[in-house]
Amino acid sequence: MSARFEGSTVLVAGGTGGLGRAVTSAFLEEGANVVVTYRNQPEWERFKNSASANASRLQGHEVDVTDEAAVNQLIEKVLLKQGRLDAMVNTVGGYAGGLKLWEMETIVFDRMLNLNLRSGYALSRSAVRVMLKQGRGAIVNVASKAALDHAAGAAAYAASKAAAVAMLDSLAAEVTGTGVRVNSILPSIIDTEPNRKAMPKADFTKWPKAEDIARVILFLCSEDAKVIHGAAIPV
Ligand SMILES: NC(=O)c1ccc[n+]([C@@H]2O[C@H](COP(=O)([O-])OP(=O)(O)OC[C@H]3O[C@@H](n4cnc5c(N)ncnc54)[C@H](OP(=O)(O)O)[C@@H]3O)[C@@H](O)[C@H]2O)c1
Repeated sequence: MSARFEGSTVLVAGGTGGLGRAVTSAFLEEGANVVVTYRNQPEWERFKNSASANASRLQGHEVDVTDEAAVNQLIEKVLLKQGRLDAMVNTVGGYAGGLKLWEMETIVFDRMLNLNLRSGYALSRSAVRVMLKQGRGAIVNVASKAALDHAAGAAAYAASKAAAVAMLDSLAAEVTGTGVRVNSILPSIIDTEPNRKAMPKADFTKWPKAEDIARVILFLCSEDAKVIHGAAIPV
């Protein structure tokens, strides 16, 4: 096991989801103490049990990360227990599409903004305050290629992801030179179970694996990426 992150503390929001699990496992493999947020208790229990040898460095908290007060409380708890926050990775997000702008329910528009924009807003605001005090830290927000490629039938999703990239870009400009780095990554379709079910005829070999994307995220959080700041990286 390489120990790039030994002794460090990392928060992975949505850490029991398709991509989140891969990110969490990769950080654990590389020695980090990882705090994940989850919503589904049985999913969390299953994931914790699968972490076996690394489970002692894994903590979970049931938190709605679109709730700013709940996120602030979580970060306070992390600081009390761990005394530091080296990286925050937001993998919370969701997709809704298939309907034209005028056909879509407004509730879907609000849900996309909450999941894909407000989550990163609440998490980044809280994490960056801690990191500025520390004079170091890395924030990675998972957006989507849809932030750049605005396809028909995905207006709310594309708008929410584009806004998330813009927000992180502004935040990066605000913290330049402080030791805190802020980046977005823009995945295309990831090889996950729900995507395989939704598109059974697709060629799954062409889709990036969650583990491959996790490696990019760990790189962005590592010292090797100390000169990468304010980037939105397609994967
Ligand atoms: N999958 C893809 O093909 C793809 C492509 C491009 C971009 N992305 C982006 O990549 C990220 C990860 O995608 P994924 O496929 O891993 O999604 P996922 O499997 O649905 O994982 C997202 C996780 O976030 C959790 N979550 C949702 N709302 C939350 C909230 N309000 N508070 C706390 N946790 C919440 C989900 O919990 P529940 O399971 O309880 O809802 C789930 O565990 C997302 O931002 C997504 O938009 C994915």
